Amino acid sequence: MTVYQATASAPVNIACIKYWGKRDTKLILPTNSSLSVTLDQDHLRSTTTSRADPSFQKDRLWLNGEEEEIKDGGRLATCIKEMKALRRELEDKDSSLPKISGYPVHICSRNNFPTAAGLASSASGFAALVASLAALYQLPTDASRLSLIARQGSGSACRSLFGGFVAWQMGEKPDGSDSYAVQVAPREHWPDIHALICVVSDDKKGTSSTSGMQRTVETSTLLQHRIKHVVPERMRAISEAILARDFDTFARITMQDSNQFHAVALDTDPPIFYMNDVSRAIIALIVEYNRVAVANGGKLKAAYTYDAGPNAVIYAPKENIKEIVELIVKYFPQADSFKDPFGLFSGKGVTGK
Ligand code: PMV
Repeated sequence: MTVYQATASAPVNIACIKYWGKRDTKLILPTNSSLSVTLDQDHLRSTTTSRADPSFQKDRLWLNGEEEEIKDGGRLATCIKEMKALRRELEDKDSSLPKISGYPVHICSRNNFPTAAGLASSASGFAALVASLAALYQLPTDASRLSLIARQGSGSACRSLFGGFVAWQMGEKPDGSDSYAVQVAPREHWPDIHALICVVSDDKKGTSSTSGMQRTVETSTLLQHRIKHVVPERMRAISEAILARDFDTFARITMQDSNQFHAVALDTDPPIFYMNDVSRAIIALIVEYNRVAVANGGKLKAAYTYDAGPNAVIYAPKENIKEIVELIVKYFPQADSFKDPFGLFSGKGVTGK
């Protein structure tokens, strides 16, 4: 008996130019383009196994061991339906292929980090779901094509289908066919940039990105300014900075865009607060760290960014990471569970768990 099963995994991505706002909530079409870095360490990944079997009664999905309802017309159902349709197209063209597109699927997904804590679990989750179904159905793996489907699960998921530096082009067409992800540069282009994740809290976030965005689109005037007059130029400038490996410009734009995203959240009625006092204290620390570097004739050494939660992501060239971790641990002494993939601290002070 042939078993039709495949496993794929996808990492989290953290945006430097934030996606916030939908112009079409069903197709998940954004009000602005966005750009992110896909993290390539093993700490923040979703791994998903999909299996098609004629004996299954219906499509089912388990996330971290708990069954999630696949609601008719919901995002999970849409992604599964679209992937089955791509398989059906192949089967129609090639009659020798087994007709598995008609079989129900069982999907099992796991995150190796806290779910829905502002660590982009939906991004890696939907990217891994689409990648595992693409492997199960042996679809041609054009990541931009698959990103059109992942986007309909969770907008930011479309960017996790690529590694490295990735742009999600908002597109213009009402059917969403030009709203997909493209790679700006592979990871190897700029391997020196690293991301330090400071988990300020791993509680579930208070306002989901879906309801938060909707409220912002309905009530924020600042969002309209951002969409028209800010993001297009930032997308151009940060892409250029990435291609030129210009960390100073990359860092400046990343911090400005994080600040504006949280300003837009605050400009929402009622206002949304994603950062807390610890998040703001980390901003102050990075601002001071950069100020001293610039005062001494140098350039920016680190960039903070925050998604829809209190956790900080700090981008920095590798040579600065040790110094930044030492600062964080000094000012936030409870930060004692640093994961040390480079062995920067072997045997000294900070514990690498
Ligand atoms: O894809 P969603 O619905 O989880 O929205 C993600 C929004 C942000 O993480 C705040 C920004 C982004 O571009 O990833």
